[in-house]
Amino acid sequence: MKIYLIGFMGSGKTFRGRQLSQKLGIPFFDLDEQVVNQEGISVKRIFEEKGEEYFRMAEKEALHIITESHDAFVMATGGGTPCYFNNIEYMKKSGTTVWINTPHETLFNRLIREKEERPLLNRLSDEQLRSFIIKKYADRKIYYEQSALNIDDENTTLEELTEKIVHV
Ligand code: S3P
Repeated sequence: MKIYLIGFMGSGKTFRGRQLSQKLGIPFFDLDEQVVNQEGISVKRIFEEKGEEYFRMAEKEALHIITESHDAFVMATGGGTPCYFNNIEYMKKSGTTVWINTPHETLFNRLIREKEERPLLNRLSDEQLRSFIIKKYADRKIYYEQSALNIDDENTTLEELTEKIVHV
């Protein structure tokens, strides 16, 4: 069982992923963390020093390494992961893709507190962050919605989420 949690930055993929992996008794992987281990520097520094294109290559490599070296896991992907290369097709072929769909206002309230650490957000004012969420979400929706499951994060319990995944 290979489960990929997909969704916008701040949607709760890591939080949900940890819960789900405990419940199902399978390992949890955070794709950003894997990239950081691979590269030896933070995601923010990779963006600043090597550029986004380099990050996307490293992210794809990490996605393949985890997928090919484990039979079962829950993975929290990065917000951009399904939108580059053929990553969404690859994840769909390899396992179950789950879109953690979280309202814009919740994303905004979370991201405003974590802006500094995030390379795509750290130079934005609060108002720019609001527009960024609207625009980027609209651009990325066509990838996110290809997931096998679309979860309304605020109205789905862990039990319901687990049930849906097990029966997909
Ligand atoms: C990104 C999301 C981040 C991280 C990087 C780029 C994006 O992951 O991969 O900063 O393009 O949306 P999270 O969604 O885990 O924050």
